[in-house]
Amino acid sequence: MKPAPMTQRRSRIPYNKPTVALKPAVTFAEQREIDPAQLAALFQQAPWAKGRSVEDAREMLANTDLTVSAWDGDQLIGFGRVLTDYVFRASIWDVIVAKGYQGRKIGTEIVQRILHHPRLKKVELFWLCTRMPGFYERLGFSSQEQTGMVWARSRQSRLE
Ligand SMILES: CC(C)(COP(=O)(O)OP(=O)(O)OC[C@H]1O[C@@H](n2cnc3c(N)ncnc32)[C@H](O)[C@@H]1OP(=O)(O)O)[C@@H](O)C(=O)NCCC(=O)NCCS
Repeated sequence: MKPAPMTQRRSRIPYNKPTVALKPAVTFAEQREIDPAQLAALFQQAPWAKGRSVEDAREMLANTDLTVSAWDGDQLIGFGRVLTDYVFRASIWDVIVAKGYQGRKIGTEIVQRILHHPRLKKVELFWLCTRMPGFYERLGFSSQEQTGMVWARSRQSRLE
């Protein structure tokens, strides 16, 4: 039997608009302005940053050399920042990813973007202080070469 000829016909089945809105992909930014209120809210998720105020977050942002932020639309979902002389040293601080977004390589991307930032090309040594060495070892950081020491204001009164 001959196959039926192929005809181009418009489907009579009505086109249904998707009912679920597609989630925008996570985006990263080196220049984007960061709302201190959103950042302070993100900080509440980490034990070492809990209790930081919106005002202090604003002041910190104004005095930070570089930031890398991660966004889901207009929602801040990841952050990291750098203090540096742009030549010899750079320190990385406050790397954080919102709880619902962890484990999706967002933290890795933030640190990679810092290490490969065009303005940090000359920096010979990046330094950070962490309670999560495993995460940073995967990115090439080592605790073998340097020893960090910390002077914490909150501990001083106990020593006096
Ligand atoms: C630590 C943190 C920044 C990692 O970001 P993330 O986006 O969740 O991590 P990634 O998805 O990029 O993880 C990359 C790898 O590191 C591993 N990893 C993540 N957190 C880790 C940890 N605490 N210890 C050891 N390995 C860790 C992941 O399993 C993953 O391994 P894989 O490559 O085999 O899959 C994030 O979990 C976070 O914000 N935690 C709370 C805040 C905090 O304490 N930050 C540390 C600043 S010192």
